[in-house]
Amino acid sequence: MLMACKSGVTHQAALMLLLLSWRDSMLCNGLTVDPPEDLLIVDPGHLGRLEIRWRPPASLANLTECPKLYHLEYFNADSRNVIRTSRISYSANFDLMKDVRVRLYTLLSGPCTNDTVIKSKRYTEVVQKPLITGIVAVAVQDFICVYHNMEYMECKWGRNPKMPADSQLKLYFWHKELQQAQECPKYIFSGEVRSGCNFTGKSLPDFTDINFCVNGSSREGPLKPTFISLQTQNQVKPGPTDNLYLQTGSDRQLEILWDNSAGGVPGECLEWEVEHSQEGPDKKMTSEHILTMETRLRLPSIHENQINCFRVRSKVHKYCAATSFWSDWSYPVCHPVVRMKEVAPEPESDMAYLYIAVSVIAILMLSLCVWAVFKVRSSKQEKKPYSLLNTLFSRSSILTVVDA
Ligand SMILES: *[C@@H]1O[C@H](CO)[C@@H](O)[C@H](O)[C@H]1NC(C)=O
Ligand SMILES: *[C@@H]1O[C@H](CO)[C@@H](O)[C@H](O)[C@H]1NC(C)=O
Ligand SMILES: *[C@@H]1O[C@H](CO)[C@@H](O)[C@H](O)[C@H]1NC(C)=O
Ligand SMILES: *[C@@H]1O[C@H](CO)[C@@H](O)[C@H](O)[C@H]1NC(C)=O
Repeated sequence: MLMACKSGVTHQAALMLLLLSWRDSMLCNGLTVDPPEDLLIVDPGHLGRLEIRWRPPASLANLTECPKLYHLEYFNADSRNVIRTSRISYSANFDLMKDVRVRLYTLLSGPCTNDTVIKSKRYTEVVQKPLITGIVAVAVQDFICVYHNMEYMECKWGRNPKMPADSQLKLYFWHKELQQAQECPKYIFSGEVRSGCNFTGKSLPDFTDINFCVNGSSREGPLKPTFISLQTQNQVKPGPTDNLYLQTGSDRQLEILWDNSAGGVPGECLEWEVEHSQEGPDKKMTSEHILTMETRLRLPSIHENQINCFRVRSKVHKYCAATSFWSDWSYPVCHPVVRMKEVAPEPESDMAYLYIAVSVIAILMLSLCVWAVFKVRSSKQEKKPYSLLNTLFSRSSILTVVDA
Protein backbone atom coordinates (compact mmCIF):
# COMPACT_ATOMS: atom_id res chain seq x y z
CA MET A 1 0.00 0.00 0.00
CA LEU A 2 1.22 3.48 -0.68
CA MET A 3 -0.01 6.94 0.10
CA ALA A 4 0.31 9.18 -2.91
CA CYS A 5 -0.12 12.89 -2.92
CA LYS A 6 -1.31 14.76 -5.92
CA SER A 7 1.17 17.51 -6.74
CA GLY A 8 -1.56 20.03 -5.98
CA VAL A 9 -0.75 22.90 -8.30
CA THR A 10 1.86 23.27 -11.01
CA HIS A 11 4.40 26.11 -10.86
CA GLN A 12 2.95 27.76 -13.91
CA ALA A 13 -0.46 28.10 -12.34
CA ALA A 14 -1.75 31.54 -11.54
CA LEU A 15 -1.89 32.75 -7.95
CA MET A 16 -5.67 32.92 -8.21
CA LEU A 17 -5.89 29.21 -8.97
CA LEU A 18 -3.50 28.47 -6.11
CA LEU A 19 -5.72 30.36 -3.65
CA LEU A 20 -8.87 28.71 -4.94
CA SER A 21 -7.52 25.20 -4.75
CA TRP A 22 -6.11 25.85 -1.31
CA ARG A 23 -9.49 27.01 -0.05
CA ASP A 24 -10.93 23.85 -1.56
CA SER A 25 -9.56 21.67 1.14
CA MET A 26 -8.89 24.15 3.95
CA LEU A 27 -11.68 25.06 6.30
CA CYS A 28 -12.18 28.54 7.73
CA ASN A 29 -10.97 27.30 11.14
CA GLY A 30 -7.65 26.21 9.61
CA LEU A 31 -8.55 22.51 9.43
CA THR A 32 -7.67 20.67 6.21
CA VAL A 33 -9.76 17.88 4.71
CA ASP A 34 -7.51 14.84 4.66
CA PRO A 35 -7.93 11.79 2.43
CA PRO A 36 -9.13 8.47 3.92
CA GLU A 37 -6.66 6.13 5.60
CA ASP A 38 -5.79 2.43 5.59
CA LEU A 39 -7.03 1.81 2.07
CA LEU A 40 -7.02 -1.91 1.42
CA ILE A 41 -7.99 -4.16 -1.52
CA VAL A 42 -9.26 -7.53 -0.33
CA ASP A 43 -9.69 -10.56 -2.63
CA PRO A 44 -12.26 -12.94 -1.11
CA GLY A 45 -11.67 -15.48 -3.92
CA HIS A 46 -14.62 -14.38 -6.04
CA LEU A 47 -12.61 -14.50 -9.27
CA GLY A 48 -12.45 -10.77 -9.86
CA ARG A 49 -14.88 -9.24 -7.38
CA LEU A 50 -12.69 -7.28 -5.00
CA GLU A 51 -13.61 -5.48 -1.83
CA ILE A 52 -12.12 -2.05 -1.23
CA ARG A 53 -12.02 -0.93 2.43
CA TRP A 54 -10.78 2.20 4.18
CA ARG A 55 -11.10 4.28 7.36
CA PRO A 56 -12.17 7.93 7.69
CA PRO A 57 -9.29 10.37 8.18
CA ALA A 58 -8.36 10.55 11.87
CA SER A 59 -8.14 14.33 11.67
CA LEU A 60 -11.89 14.55 10.97
CA ALA A 61 -12.91 11.97 13.59
CA ASN A 62 -14.29 14.62 15.99
CA LEU A 63 -16.38 16.43 13.36
CA THR A 64 -19.35 14.14 13.96
CA GLU A 65 -21.91 16.78 12.99
CA CYS A 66 -20.38 17.10 9.50
CA PRO A 67 -21.35 14.42 6.93
CA LYS A 68 -18.46 12.73 5.19
CA LEU A 69 -18.59 11.20 1.74
CA TYR A 70 -15.91 9.38 -0.21
CA HIS A 71 -15.04 9.95 -3.82
CA LEU A 72 -13.69 6.67 -5.22
CA GLU A 73 -11.97 6.31 -8.58
CA TYR A 74 -10.85 2.95 -9.85
CA PHE A 75 -8.91 2.06 -12.94
CA ASN A 76 -8.60 -1.38 -14.51
CA ALA A 77 -7.98 -2.59 -18.03
CA ASP A 78 -8.31 0.87 -19.66
CA SER A 79 -11.56 1.68 -17.86
CA ARG A 80 -12.05 4.41 -15.27
CA ASN A 81 -14.99 4.45 -12.89
CA VAL A 82 -16.03 7.09 -10.37
CA ILE A 83 -18.49 6.64 -7.52
CA ARG A 84 -19.43 8.57 -4.38
CA THR A 85 -20.40 6.75 -1.24
CA SER A 86 -20.94 7.43 2.46
CA ARG A 87 -19.88 3.89 3.34
CA ILE A 88 -16.35 2.79 4.11
CA SER A 89 -16.21 -0.16 1.73
CA TYR A 90 -17.09 -0.86 -1.88
CA SER A 91 -17.10 -3.97 -4.05
CA ALA A 92 -16.48 -3.99 -7.77
CA ASN A 93 -15.48 -6.38 -10.51
CA PHE A 94 -11.95 -6.23 -11.82
CA ASP A 95 -9.99 -8.01 -14.48
CA LEU A 96 -7.40 -9.75 -12.32
CA MET A 97 -5.10 -10.16 -15.32
CA LYS A 98 -4.64 -6.36 -15.38
CA ASP A 99 -3.43 -3.73 -12.87
CA VAL A 100 -5.97 -2.62 -10.31
CA ARG A 101 -5.65 1.02 -9.24
CA VAL A 102 -7.86 2.63 -6.61
CA ARG A 103 -7.85 6.32 -5.64
CA LEU A 104 -9.84 7.75 -2.77
CA TYR A 105 -10.74 11.32 -1.68
CA THR A 106 -12.74 12.64 1.30
CA LEU A 107 -15.70 14.98 0.78
CA LEU A 108 -16.77 17.06 3.76
CA SER A 109 -19.97 19.11 4.06
CA GLY A 110 -22.35 20.50 6.69
CA PRO A 111 -21.77 23.25 9.24
CA CYS A 112 -17.97 22.68 9.29
CA THR A 113 -17.77 23.83 5.68
CA ASN A 114 -20.58 26.42 5.70
CA ASP A 115 -22.77 23.87 3.84
CA THR A 116 -20.59 23.56 0.80
CA VAL A 117 -18.94 20.28 -0.25
CA ILE A 118 -15.19 20.32 0.12
CA LYS A 119 -13.03 17.63 -1.46
CA SER A 120 -9.67 16.67 -0.04
CA LYS A 121 -6.83 17.91 -2.17
CA ARG A 122 -4.80 14.81 -1.62
CA TYR A 123 -5.87 11.26 -2.24
CA THR A 124 -4.94 7.82 -1.02
CA GLU A 125 -4.04 5.33 -3.69
CA VAL A 126 -3.36 1.61 -3.96
CA VAL A 127 -2.04 -0.11 -7.09
CA GLN A 128 -2.19 -3.87 -7.24
CA LYS A 129 -0.23 -5.70 -9.89
CA PRO A 130 -1.74 -8.87 -11.35
CA LEU A 131 -0.71 -11.98 -9.51
CA ILE A 132 1.39 -13.69 -12.13
CA THR A 133 1.42 -17.36 -11.34
CA GLY A 134 1.75 -20.19 -13.76
CA ILE A 135 4.29 -21.22 -16.29
CA VAL A 136 2.43 -21.04 -19.58
CA ALA A 137 1.33 -17.72 -21.07
CA VAL A 138 -2.35 -18.55 -20.56
CA ALA A 139 -4.15 -21.82 -20.01
CA VAL A 140 -6.81 -21.20 -22.65
CA GLN A 141 -7.85 -18.76 -25.38
CA ASP A 142 -11.03 -17.70 -27.20
CA PHE A 143 -13.32 -18.21 -24.22
CA ILE A 144 -16.95 -17.86 -25.31
CA CYS A 145 -20.28 -18.49 -23.58
CA VAL A 146 -23.53 -19.03 -25.49
CA TYR A 147 -26.87 -19.13 -23.66
CA HIS A 148 -28.80 -21.42 -26.02
CA ASN A 149 -32.39 -20.20 -26.29
CA MET A 150 -32.08 -19.20 -22.61
CA GLU A 151 -32.31 -22.90 -21.73
CA TYR A 152 -28.72 -23.82 -20.97
CA MET A 153 -25.41 -22.00 -21.20
CA GLU A 154 -22.31 -23.51 -22.75
CA CYS A 155 -18.91 -21.94 -22.22
CA LYS A 156 -16.13 -23.15 -24.46
CA TRP A 157 -12.48 -22.38 -24.90
CA GLY A 158 -9.64 -23.11 -27.26
CA ARG A 159 -6.44 -24.80 -26.32
CA ASN A 160 -3.32 -22.74 -26.06
CA PRO A 161 -0.80 -24.53 -28.32
CA LYS A 162 1.93 -23.79 -25.78
CA MET A 163 0.07 -25.68 -23.07
CA PRO A 164 1.81 -28.89 -21.93
CA ALA A 165 0.13 -32.04 -23.28
CA ASP A 166 -0.69 -33.44 -19.86
CA SER A 167 -2.49 -30.27 -18.66
CA GLN A 168 -5.62 -30.73 -16.61
CA LEU A 169 -7.96 -27.74 -17.02
CA LYS A 170 -10.62 -26.59 -14.58
CA LEU A 171 -13.32 -23.95 -14.74
CA TYR A 172 -14.52 -22.11 -11.64
CA PHE A 173 -17.36 -19.61 -11.46
CA TRP A 174 -18.83 -17.24 -8.95
CA HIS A 175 -21.84 -14.90 -8.76
CA LYS A 176 -23.32 -12.96 -5.88
CA GLU A 177 -25.66 -15.74 -4.79
CA LEU A 178 -22.68 -18.00 -4.06
CA GLN A 179 -20.59 -17.94 -0.91
CA GLN A 180 -17.55 -19.35 -2.66
CA ALA A 181 -16.39 -20.05 -6.20
CA GLN A 182 -17.63 -23.38 -7.53
CA GLU A 183 -16.27 -25.78 -10.10
CA CYS A 184 -17.98 -26.50 -13.43
CA PRO A 185 -21.01 -28.81 -12.96
CA LYS A 186 -20.52 -30.66 -16.28
CA TYR A 187 -17.44 -30.43 -18.46
CA ILE A 188 -17.53 -30.62 -22.26
CA PHE A 189 -14.73 -32.71 -23.77
CA SER A 190 -13.01 -32.70 -27.14
CA GLY A 191 -11.33 -36.04 -27.13
CA GLU A 192 -9.69 -36.42 -23.76
CA VAL A 193 -9.29 -32.71 -23.10
CA ARG A 194 -11.75 -30.45 -21.31
CA SER A 195 -12.85 -27.83 -23.81
CA GLY A 196 -15.86 -26.29 -22.11
CA CYS A 197 -18.51 -26.35 -19.43
CA ASN A 198 -22.24 -26.97 -19.69
CA PHE A 199 -24.45 -25.08 -17.23
CA THR A 200 -27.63 -27.04 -17.65
CA GLY A 201 -30.97 -25.47 -16.81
CA LYS A 202 -31.35 -22.03 -15.28
CA SER A 203 -28.44 -22.50 -12.93
CA LEU A 204 -26.98 -19.03 -13.49
CA PRO A 205 -28.84 -15.80 -12.61
CA ASP A 206 -29.52 -13.01 -15.16
CA PHE A 207 -28.54 -9.36 -14.81
CA THR A 208 -25.65 -9.98 -12.49
CA ASP A 209 -21.95 -10.47 -13.17
CA ILE A 210 -20.84 -14.06 -13.44
CA ASN A 211 -17.11 -14.39 -12.95
CA PHE A 212 -15.26 -17.28 -14.56
CA CYS A 213 -11.74 -18.53 -14.14
CA VAL A 214 -10.13 -21.25 -16.22
CA ASN A 215 -6.94 -22.51 -14.64
CA GLY A 216 -5.08 -25.73 -14.67
CA SER A 217 -2.07 -27.72 -13.72
CA SER A 218 0.44 -29.86 -15.53
CA ARG A 219 3.47 -31.88 -14.54
CA GLU A 220 5.56 -28.78 -15.28
CA GLY A 221 3.54 -26.71 -12.81
CA PRO A 222 0.38 -24.61 -12.65
CA LEU A 223 -0.94 -22.79 -15.74
CA LYS A 224 -1.61 -19.08 -15.79
CA PRO A 225 -5.35 -18.57 -15.18
CA THR A 226 -7.76 -16.76 -17.51
CA PHE A 227 -10.51 -14.60 -15.98
CA ILE A 228 -13.75 -13.60 -17.70
CA SER A 229 -16.79 -11.76 -16.40
CA LEU A 230 -20.15 -11.60 -18.20
CA GLN A 231 -23.90 -11.45 -17.71
CA THR A 232 -25.99 -14.30 -19.07
CA GLN A 233 -28.66 -12.13 -20.75
CA ASN A 234 -25.96 -10.76 -23.08
CA GLN A 235 -24.96 -14.22 -24.35
CA VAL A 236 -28.31 -15.42 -25.71
CA LYS A 237 -28.55 -17.29 -28.99
CA PRO A 238 -32.26 -17.82 -29.77
CA GLY A 239 -33.37 -21.15 -31.22
CA PRO A 240 -34.16 -21.28 -34.94
CA THR A 241 -37.68 -20.64 -36.19
CA ASP A 242 -39.37 -23.79 -37.44
CA ASN A 243 -42.60 -22.52 -38.91
CA LEU A 244 -42.41 -20.18 -41.85
CA TYR A 245 -45.40 -19.57 -44.12
CA LEU A 246 -46.00 -17.69 -47.32
CA GLN A 247 -49.31 -16.35 -48.45
CA THR A 248 -50.17 -14.45 -51.57
CA GLY A 249 -52.67 -11.63 -51.63
CA SER A 250 -55.06 -10.66 -54.41
CA ASP A 251 -52.77 -7.99 -55.86
CA ARG A 252 -49.80 -10.36 -56.19
CA GLN A 253 -48.50 -9.25 -52.82
CA LEU A 254 -46.49 -11.80 -50.96
CA GLU A 255 -46.67 -12.04 -47.20
CA ILE A 256 -44.26 -14.06 -45.15
CA LEU A 257 -45.19 -15.08 -41.60
CA TRP A 258 -43.36 -17.07 -38.96
CA ASP A 259 -43.67 -18.21 -35.38
CA ASN A 260 -41.63 -17.01 -32.46
CA SER A 261 -38.91 -19.53 -31.80
CA ALA A 262 -40.23 -21.61 -28.94
CA GLY A 263 -38.16 -21.38 -25.81
CA GLY A 264 -37.03 -19.12 -23.06
CA VAL A 265 -36.57 -15.86 -24.98
CA PRO A 266 -39.60 -13.57 -24.62
CA GLY A 267 -41.03 -12.86 -28.08
CA GLU A 268 -41.05 -9.09 -27.53
CA CYS A 269 -37.26 -9.21 -27.06
CA LEU A 270 -36.57 -10.61 -30.52
CA GLU A 271 -35.71 -8.83 -33.70
CA TRP A 272 -35.66 -10.64 -37.01
CA GLU A 273 -33.68 -10.71 -40.17
CA VAL A 274 -35.39 -11.94 -43.32
CA GLU A 275 -33.23 -13.04 -46.22
CA HIS A 276 -35.08 -12.63 -49.48
CA SER A 277 -33.47 -14.33 -52.49
CA GLN A 278 -34.85 -13.65 -55.91
CA GLU A 279 -34.12 -15.12 -59.28
CA GLY A 280 -33.50 -12.29 -61.68
CA PRO A 281 -34.20 -12.21 -65.47
CA ASP A 282 -30.67 -13.56 -66.11
CA LYS A 283 -31.43 -16.56 -63.83
CA LYS A 284 -28.99 -15.19 -61.28
CA MET A 285 -30.00 -15.22 -57.62
CA THR A 286 -29.75 -11.95 -55.75
CA SER A 287 -30.54 -11.55 -52.08
CA GLU A 288 -31.47 -8.75 -49.74
CA HIS A 289 -31.70 -8.68 -45.96
CA ILE A 290 -34.56 -6.99 -44.16
CA LEU A 291 -34.66 -6.30 -40.42
CA THR A 292 -37.98 -6.23 -38.62
CA MET A 293 -39.43 -6.35 -35.11
CA GLU A 294 -42.58 -8.14 -36.26
CA THR A 295 -43.10 -11.79 -37.11
CA ARG A 296 -44.43 -10.98 -40.58
CA LEU A 297 -43.28 -9.14 -43.64
CA ARG A 298 -45.23 -7.98 -46.66
CA LEU A 299 -43.50 -7.54 -49.97
CA PRO A 300 -44.66 -5.37 -52.84
CA SER A 301 -45.99 -7.10 -55.94
CA ILE A 302 -43.83 -9.86 -57.32
CA HIS A 303 -43.53 -11.38 -60.75
CA GLU A 304 -45.65 -14.51 -60.95
CA ASN A 305 -42.95 -16.52 -62.72
CA GLN A 306 -40.03 -15.42 -60.58
CA ILE A 307 -38.72 -17.55 -57.78
CA ASN A 308 -38.67 -15.84 -54.37
CA CYS A 309 -37.14 -17.63 -51.41
CA PHE A 310 -37.01 -16.64 -47.77
CA ARG A 311 -35.38 -17.67 -44.55
CA VAL A 312 -35.44 -16.01 -41.16
CA ARG A 313 -33.19 -15.72 -38.13
CA SER A 314 -33.48 -13.80 -34.88
CA LYS A 315 -31.53 -12.21 -32.09
CA VAL A 316 -32.29 -10.37 -28.88
CA HIS A 317 -32.71 -6.67 -29.63
CA LYS A 318 -30.83 -3.92 -27.87
CA TYR A 319 -33.71 -2.94 -25.59
CA CYS A 320 -33.52 -6.33 -23.85
CA ALA A 321 -29.78 -7.05 -23.83
CA ALA A 322 -26.54 -5.31 -24.68
CA THR A 323 -25.39 -8.07 -27.02
CA SER A 324 -26.78 -11.23 -28.59
CA PHE A 325 -25.82 -13.95 -31.01
CA TRP A 326 -27.84 -14.54 -34.18
CA SER A 327 -29.89 -17.72 -34.17
CA ASP A 328 -29.33 -20.29 -36.89
CA TRP A 329 -31.33 -19.67 -40.08
CA SER A 330 -34.75 -21.25 -40.43
CA TYR A 331 -35.46 -23.67 -43.26
CA PRO A 332 -36.04 -21.72 -46.47
CA VAL A 333 -39.44 -21.46 -48.11
CA CYS A 334 -39.98 -20.46 -51.72
CA HIS A 335 -42.70 -19.10 -53.93
CA PRO A 336 -43.54 -20.78 -56.20
CA VAL A 337 -42.56 -23.93 -54.32
CA VAL A 338 -39.23 -25.26 -55.57
CA ARG A 339 -36.61 -27.59 -54.22
CA MET A 340 -34.02 -25.54 -52.39
CA LYS A 341 -31.15 -27.27 -54.21
CA GLU A 342 -31.88 -25.14 -57.27
CA VAL A 343 -31.77 -21.97 -55.27
CA ALA A 344 -28.92 -22.36 -52.85
CA PRO A 345 -26.57 -25.06 -54.11
CA GLU A 346 -24.53 -26.51 -51.31
CA PRO A 347 -20.84 -25.92 -51.97
CA GLU A 348 -20.26 -29.64 -51.29
CA SER A 349 -22.71 -30.76 -54.01
CA ASP A 350 -20.53 -29.30 -56.79
CA MET A 351 -17.63 -31.30 -55.47
CA ALA A 352 -19.81 -34.40 -55.23
CA TYR A 353 -20.67 -34.12 -58.95
CA LEU A 354 -17.00 -33.77 -59.76
CA TYR A 355 -16.11 -36.85 -57.71
CA ILE A 356 -18.83 -38.88 -59.41
CA ALA A 357 -17.71 -37.75 -62.87
CA VAL A 358 -14.07 -38.59 -62.14
CA SER A 359 -15.04 -42.00 -60.74
CA VAL A 360 -17.17 -42.83 -63.80
CA ILE A 361 -14.36 -41.88 -66.19
CA ALA A 362 -11.82 -43.84 -64.17
CA ILE A 363 -14.03 -46.96 -64.16
CA LEU A 364 -14.64 -46.62 -67.91
CA MET A 365 -10.94 -46.30 -68.66
CA LEU A 366 -10.08 -49.23 -66.41
CA SER A 367 -12.73 -51.42 -68.06
CA LEU A 368 -11.43 -50.43 -71.46
CA CYS A 369 -7.89 -51.38 -70.49
CA VAL A 370 -8.94 -54.72 -69.02
CA TRP A 371 -11.07 -55.41 -72.06
CA ALA A 372 -8.21 -54.51 -74.38
CA VAL A 373 -5.74 -56.70 -72.52
CA PHE A 374 -8.00 -59.73 -72.67
CA LYS A 375 -8.98 -59.06 -76.26
CA VAL A 376 -5.40 -58.86 -77.46
CA ARG A 377 -4.21 -61.71 -75.21
CA SER A 378 -6.87 -64.10 -76.52
CA SER A 379 -6.19 -63.25 -80.17
CA LYS A 380 -2.37 -63.20 -80.11
CA GLN A 381 -1.19 -65.38 -77.20
CA GLU A 382 2.52 -65.09 -78.10
CA LYS A 383 2.67 -61.34 -77.37
CA LYS A 384 3.34 -60.04 -73.86
CA PRO A 385 0.53 -58.02 -72.31
CA TYR A 386 2.84 -55.19 -71.30
CA SER A 387 4.07 -54.62 -74.82
CA LEU A 388 0.50 -54.95 -76.07
CA LEU A 389 -0.62 -52.29 -73.70
CA ASN A 390 2.27 -50.17 -74.84
CA THR A 391 1.14 -50.52 -78.39
CA LEU A 392 -2.47 -49.85 -77.56
CA PHE A 393 -1.96 -46.82 -75.37
CA SER A 394 1.44 -45.61 -76.43
CA ARG A 395 0.26 -42.02 -76.48
CA SER A 396 -1.84 -42.26 -73.38
CA SER A 397 -0.77 -41.25 -69.91
CA ILE A 398 -3.38 -43.60 -68.45
CA LEU A 399 -0.92 -46.47 -69.06
CA THR A 400 1.33 -45.51 -66.19
CA VAL A 401 -1.66 -45.50 -63.87
CA VAL A 402 -2.76 -48.96 -64.92
CA ASP A 403 0.81 -50.20 -64.88
CA ALA A 404 1.45 -49.09 -61.30
C1 LIG B 1 -10.84 14.32 19.29
O1 LIG B 1 -11.35 14.45 20.61
C2 LIG B 1 -10.60 13.71 21.56
C3 LIG B 1 -11.28 13.86 22.93
O2 LIG B 1 -12.21 14.89 22.92
C4 LIG B 1 -9.17 14.28 21.62
O3 LIG B 1 -8.42 13.56 22.56
C5 LIG B 1 -8.55 14.11 20.23
O4 LIG B 1 -7.27 14.71 20.20
C6 LIG B 1 -9.40 14.79 19.20
N1 LIG B 1 -8.86 14.49 17.88
C7 LIG B 1 -8.61 15.39 16.94
C8 LIG B 1 -8.02 14.92 15.68
O5 LIG B 1 -8.88 16.59 17.11
C1 LIG C 1 -21.35 31.11 4.88
O1 LIG C 1 -22.19 31.31 3.71
C2 LIG C 1 -23.02 32.45 3.82
C3 LIG C 1 -23.95 32.51 2.60
O2 LIG C 1 -23.57 31.60 1.63
C4 LIG C 1 -22.16 33.70 3.95
O3 LIG C 1 -22.99 34.82 4.10
C5 LIG C 1 -21.25 33.55 5.12
O4 LIG C 1 -20.36 34.65 5.20
C6 LIG C 1 -20.44 32.28 5.04
N1 LIG C 1 -19.64 32.13 6.27
C7 LIG C 1 -18.34 31.80 6.23
C8 LIG C 1 -17.69 31.66 7.60
O5 LIG C 1 -17.73 31.65 5.22
C1 LIG D 1 -25.51 -29.20 -22.59
O1 LIG D 1 -26.70 -29.51 -21.90
C2 LIG D 1 -27.87 -29.40 -22.70
C3 LIG D 1 -29.07 -29.61 -21.82
O2 LIG D 1 -28.88 -30.64 -20.91
C4 LIG D 1 -27.80 -30.38 -23.86
O3 LIG D 1 -28.94 -30.26 -24.68
C5 LIG D 1 -26.55 -30.07 -24.67
O4 LIG D 1 -26.41 -31.00 -25.72
C6 LIG D 1 -25.32 -30.12 -23.79
N1 LIG D 1 -24.17 -29.72 -24.58
C7 LIG D 1 -23.07 -30.46 -24.72
C8 LIG D 1 -22.00 -29.92 -25.59
O5 LIG D 1 -22.96 -31.54 -24.18
C1 LIG E 1 -7.91 -22.69 -9.75
O1 LIG E 1 -8.80 -21.74 -9.18
C2 LIG E 1 -9.50 -22.21 -8.04
C3 LIG E 1 -10.50 -21.14 -7.64
O2 LIG E 1 -9.90 -19.90 -7.44
C4 LIG E 1 -8.52 -22.54 -6.94
O3 LIG E 1 -9.21 -23.04 -5.81
C5 LIG E 1 -7.52 -23.59 -7.46
O4 LIG E 1 -6.54 -23.82 -6.47
C6 LIG E 1 -6.87 -23.11 -8.74
N1 LIG E 1 -6.05 -24.19 -9.27
C7 LIG E 1 -4.82 -23.99 -9.74
C8 LIG E 1 -4.13 -25.18 -10.26
O5 LIG E 1 -4.29 -22.89 -9.75
